[in-house]
Amino acid sequence: MGSSAIFSFPRFLQFFFIFLALAQNPGLEGSHLSRIFDILDQEASPPSVQEAAARGVLARLLPSHLSSFDFKIVSKEKCGGKPCFMISNHPSLGGKGAPEILIGGISGVELSAGLHWYLKHLCMAHISWDKTGGVQLSSVPEPGFLPHVHSAGVLIQRPVPWNYYQNAVTSSYTSVWWDWERWEKEIDWMALQGINLPLAFTGQEAIWQKVFKMFNISSSDLNEFFGGPAFLAWSRMGNLHG
Ligand SMILES: *[C@@H]1O[C@H](CO)[C@@H](O)[C@H](O)[C@H]1NC(C)=O
Repeated sequence: MGSSAIFSFPRFLQFFFIFLALAQNPGLEGSHLSRIFDILDQEASPPSVQEAAARGVLARLLPSHLSSFDFKIVSKEKCGGKPCFMISNHPSLGGKGAPEILIGGISGVELSAGLHWYLKHLCMAHISWDKTGGVQLSSVPEPGFLPHVHSAGVLIQRPVPWNYYQNAVTSSYTSVWWDWERWEKEIDWMALQGINLPLAFTGQEAIWQKVFKMFNISSSDLNEFFGGPAFLAWSRMGNLHG
């Protein structure tokens, strides 16, 4: 046991350095990652759909201020080639009922993250899970009195394209019995935090079922093999035997 731990340590370092080399090699990133980004760009919903999605988050979070914010999808070029959101005073800076703050971003998630950034940093609001404070918006001024950002606006670029969330067992021990209402709240929370890569194991067993059936394994044998809803994570990892 002791000696294998000693021998595995340099191997771990070796993998670590290979990983570093991959991460720092722009050629590899160019060939593999840019293809993934191209596919994602092609699959993205039209700007109007993404803007409406961000508006939907606002409508559920702070319906009193639905007309105070305007959302606009912008190109990555406008963001200096990086994922970003940007916040400016709305050009039509009007009185009551008129939009006051314009939020731009490369995706619906970035628009929502920009909304959260504004509410947090300019209105001192707090948006969290219920058990860590929940949603506290009483410090947000009334429509018509929202704080301005400085005239140059705010530009927040992300250093990395992916903002990851969840681990392999959360779907079983936390969210297994959630209904849509609870999921919608979580998805809104994710968007407000700028998460664009949540782990979604949903449907894993349906794929395995198809594959195993090609090998003529019967449904009743498969039903014995797959875990129950609350244990799916552990059966997926091969930790359950029955
Ligand atoms: C599955 O069963 C069918 C019908 O008996 C047979 O033709 C096929 O070769 C089997 N497939 C495998 C992978 O054993």
